[in-house]
Amino acid sequence: MSVSIKSAREIELMRAAGKILAKVHDNLKKELKEGMSTLDIDRLGEEIIRSYGCIPSFKNYNGYPASVCVSVNDEVVHGIPTQKRHLKEGDIVSLDIGVIYKGYHSDAARTHGIGEVSKEAALLMERTRQSFFEGIKYAKEGNHLHQISNAISAYAESFGYGVVRDLVGHGIGTNLHEDPQIPNFAQKSRGVRLKAGMTLAIEPMINAGRFDVEWQDDDWTVVTQDHSLSAHYENTILVTSGEPEILSLSAAV
Ligand code: MF3
Ligand code: CO
Repeated sequence: MSVSIKSAREIELMRAAGKILAKVHDNLKKELKEGMSTLDIDRLGEEIIRSYGCIPSFKNYNGYPASVCVSVNDEVVHGIPTQKRHLKEGDIVSLDIGVIYKGYHSDAARTHGIGEVSKEAALLMERTRQSFFEGIKYAKEGNHLHQISNAISAYAESFGYGVVRDLVGHGIGTNLHEDPQIPNFAQKSRGVRLKAGMTLAIEPMINAGRFDVEWQDDDWTVVTQDHSLSAHYENTILVTSGEPEILSLSAAV
């Protein structure tokens, strides 16, 4: 396994990609409302991505048919947008989006509630987001990758949540998926040593119930086996010798 170190020029392009992706998420969040279909979300998302001069990186990636992965309630990730599924009050919906700007990728996910959601759902979303921040406290040159994994899982499991094991975060750059793989659950090994200039997509997927997931017949949609709710939160970050830089984060989400 070799983890690429980005040059100053590459880092600038990844900053630009991340900034755009943060705006895509902000704009899309404002459009979310009860009654819209998950395909409406995808169409809007693609339009916004292209309006910034970017390419939606998920579209046709390994045959995935859309620009935005839209995963509702017990769907963990990779839900396929459809005209048949309409959002209703109380749903939680994860939007996972990737953009390519001048050849560089940025990848980020948010989970939003539609209207009033249950206390359980609100806590799951907030703690999933927080688990990302617990993890990146360790994303610093000289630390080891699995310190991030261990911190995410210790935080999430302290609430009795299940941390998804079958999908992981990843390095990112000129490719959507680069080395290293970044598990969100506790690891026995230390993992690679982190260096300034590594760019990583860290993406905890946290279930209110058990960690087990399964794939639906469309071969994409991942759901919780026990049908408990699941939330997803992801950003593309830059490792530095000090605090990590969160490239795909805006003030709004
Ligand atoms: N954030 C997800 C990932 O990193 C999105 C990939 S969806 C796909 O794997 F459609 F592009 F596969
Ligand atoms: Co990702």
